[in-house]
Amino acid sequence: MSTPAGTSDTAPGGTVDAAPGRTVDAAPGGASGPAPLRTDGPVPVGTDGPAPAGVFPGGAELFRLDARVAHLNHGSFGSVPLPVAREHRRIADEAAADPDAFFLGVPDRLAAARARIAAHFGTDPEGMALVTNATEAAHLALDALGLGPDDEVLVTDHGYGTVVEAAARRARLVTVPLHPLLPDEDAVREAVLAAVTPRTRVAVVDQITSPTARIVAGPRLLADLADRGVTTVVDGAHAPGMLAAPLAGRPDVWFGNLHKWAYAPSGSAVLAVAPALRDRVPAPVPSWEDHRGFPRAVEYRGTADYTGLLAAADGLDLLAALGAERVRAHNSALAAHGAGLLAKLPGVTPLPADDRLALRALRLPPRFARTRPEAEALREEIMARVGCRVLVWPWPGGGGIRICGQIYNRPAEYERLARGLRFLLDGD
Ligand SMILES: Cc1ncc(COP(=O)(O)O)c(C=O)c1O
Repeated sequence: MSTPAGTSDTAPGGTVDAAPGRTVDAAPGGASGPAPLRTDGPVPVGTDGPAPAGVFPGGAELFRLDARVAHLNHGSFGSVPLPVAREHRRIADEAAADPDAFFLGVPDRLAAARARIAAHFGTDPEGMALVTNATEAAHLALDALGLGPDDEVLVTDHGYGTVVEAAARRARLVTVPLHPLLPDEDAVREAVLAAVTPRTRVAVVDQITSPTARIVAGPRLLADLADRGVTTVVDGAHAPGMLAAPLAGRPDVWFGNLHKWAYAPSGSAVLAVAPALRDRVPAPVPSWEDHRGFPRAVEYRGTADYTGLLAAADGLDLLAALGAERVRAHNSALAAHGAGLLAKLPGVTPLPADDRLALRALRLPPRFARTRPEAEALREEIMARVGCRVLVWPWPGGGGIRICGQIYNRPAEYERLARGLRFLLDGD
């Protein structure tokens, strides 16, 4: 599978061990591997950027992240806050204590969990199904569209690899190149619309692109595509929790991960489908709920682990209790602070940013991350030598870096990244 960018938000990179507390800001040392860079000097890149955002009170204490690492990549896998993890464990304990009672009740409990989640999005619970992740949602949704090999599906070169692959398995792809420096959402919209032809049946477009943190599937683009008779499939993997109205624009199909910005356990996602398509979404496997149709037939798959999905609404409840707008503002300001520091490094160019997002992307000097192996090597070097988890995205002619802001992050972590990256880019 490959896209020009070959982005792998979730490419294997290893996870860190849980450690309570979060008190130090030191890069991890170790007897083997490259020497950690010194990251305790003055910030060599200047500090006259945007005012540093503060610390979200109590934010870090809600997580059990390894305090030796700066986790600046919430967007890839998310991280489960302790109260949600506790509810997840409580449900798992319940399943262990009486499996018969638990599993017999699963379909109805999934429906109840779905109703709570749908209420957060202001949408009809009968119009969405709980699924495992965005990739699975894309796979199921595209099956509902009855595509043939001669049908054209429009994607962009910022699309996520597994989702693009789901489309490529079913139809002919037309890939719209979007220059990473296109100035704004309107320019992106125009580039996508310019690629529509009478043969375009479906557009699979990101709400928020993974490598470049751009909004593609805004309400205006969706309306324009609908006017042209194009069925819209929106990859909203990053939207739940990040955008105030993730289902805005009424796409034909929309899916989003709850395990990224909505604080849900891993393996929690939603697939929302327009009424006319619902009966055509296939159940992923035959099950005893098949006769119930969408959404129950889609979300029930026999004896499986449903505990994460059943705890997922607690993530959205927690976000609401913390103050979703407050969290979003904090996360966006922190990411902007980090991007401001990185933008001062020689040869690093910030991509146009959107204040609604807790993600920022910057292009690295042209000799870095030109291919996926180069990007993965740099990502691992940043972890090994600077102690920061970030996404490094490959791109022909030079890739980039993506950073995130989350309530467990602090300005000092981005300052550490900026100092360390400066040395790595200099070939230190
Ligand atoms: C835009 C986008 N789409 C799809 C996915 C795939 O998500 P998952 O691995 O949960 O299927 C990701 C993962 O980061 C993503 O960023």
